[in-house]
Amino acid sequence: MTSPGLTARRGGPLKGRVRAPGDKSVSHRALIFGALAQGLTEIEGLLEGEDVLRSAAAMRAFGAEVEHLGPGRWRVVGQGRFSEPTDVIDCGNAGTGVRLIMGAAAGFDLAASFTGDVSLRSRPMNRVIKPLAEMGATFLGRSGGRLPLTLKGGDLRRIEYRLPEPSAQVKSAVLLAGLHAEGGAAVLEPEPTRDHTERMLRGFGAQVQVIDQDGVRHINLADGQKLTGNQVRVPGDPSSAAFPLVAALITPGSEVTVEGVMLNPLRTGLFTTLIDMGADLRIENQRDESGEPVGDITARFSELKGVDVPASRAPSMIDEYPILAVAAAFATGVTRMTGIGEMRVKESDRIALMAAGLSACGVGVEEEPEGLIVVGSSGGNHPASGGAQIITRGDHRIAMSHLIMGLAADGEITVDEPGMIATSFPGFVEMMRGLGGDLG
Ligand code: S3P
Repeated sequence: MTSPGLTARRGGPLKGRVRAPGDKSVSHRALIFGALAQGLTEIEGLLEGEDVLRSAAAMRAFGAEVEHLGPGRWRVVGQGRFSEPTDVIDCGNAGTGVRLIMGAAAGFDLAASFTGDVSLRSRPMNRVIKPLAEMGATFLGRSGGRLPLTLKGGDLRRIEYRLPEPSAQVKSAVLLAGLHAEGGAAVLEPEPTRDHTERMLRGFGAQVQVIDQDGVRHINLADGQKLTGNQVRVPGDPSSAAFPLVAALITPGSEVTVEGVMLNPLRTGLFTTLIDMGADLRIENQRDESGEPVGDITARFSELKGVDVPASRAPSMIDEYPILAVAAAFATGVTRMTGIGEMRVKESDRIALMAAGLSACGVGVEEEPEGLIVVGSSGGNHPASGGAQIITRGDHRIAMSHLIMGLAADGEITVDEPGMIATSFPGFVEMMRGLGGDLG
């Protein structure tokens, strides 16, 4: 289905205070943990984006009671086990949803079939099939490890799995399966990835041991551990907060505060990079919410300069390179992003689409197999030319990144399929309009 496009135009400065929507990673996990646990889990601030709503429906299909109480407020009653679903589980656009749920379901004696939208059906599932099959699960489906797939779970054995790619989804799938595997599970991470699963395992009463050995994180989960229902307050999503914050940095005269942004150090690579670029970003009111550090971030228009982003920073900002590329387009000098091959297997090939989109907007850009180089247009005085129609291939972050660019570029920028923004950031358009952005 195609929806009409959405256009962003340059206007006055952006001003205001907003609240970041709930974090997508923590929201998926809160529902899955609630369903796996015994007893009542109460969630506040859940992201009600389409991806997460698919996970809520999936948890119902596996036998949990899942109830929507009010905006962001959900109640999950788990049985401590999954039962066999009577229909195919459709995870929509959500890689996190499907990979974590396959891991969670693999521990039980059941068969379950999974599918997703056209993007999800093209994404690699072998990265979770491989370790889960090694633990004893079986998979039947399309060749090449693509959805739709049917999983047969139960009778799992321990695995010690060294992640071949830095993926928190794969780590989480193995740990969730390990909850019901004889001997538990261990994951070895040469490059640390977001640790929401480890934090939430602890929050729901499991013991997880994490040790650093020669720069490799060893995460060990012993077997026979029970999860008990918990209260979860979902912190604001730094990956979503990035859009209004970068909009303020590149639009002259702007000042925007986003409240309640999660500051887990394994998620804040973009903010570190923007500060390296000279961004006026201030963090205030730092606190803890449900085991995650949180703060309010204020961004003011800044003269940015290009930087080399270290490859080692990639896992802590993997979803933020599209919007970083937009910030880089408004900087003075060149920004080099390396070690970002994982971007090619997200909701779209994000390296290719950002290179095409920036180039259509008159920005100097070079695509590498695992990198992107952006030549800045020298800041607010010489904004990028814009004036383009962008093909997003249904990727929410490609759409939002180009719309933010359109708020500061010379010519208007239109994106196709803006409806897909609702997968991760349902209130994006209203929020940006409320800050003064001309979107329509
Ligand atoms: C996520 C992990 C990342 C990220 C995704 C959310 C998670 O994916 O891109 O949006 O919640 O674990 P990978 O694990 O594939 O890097």
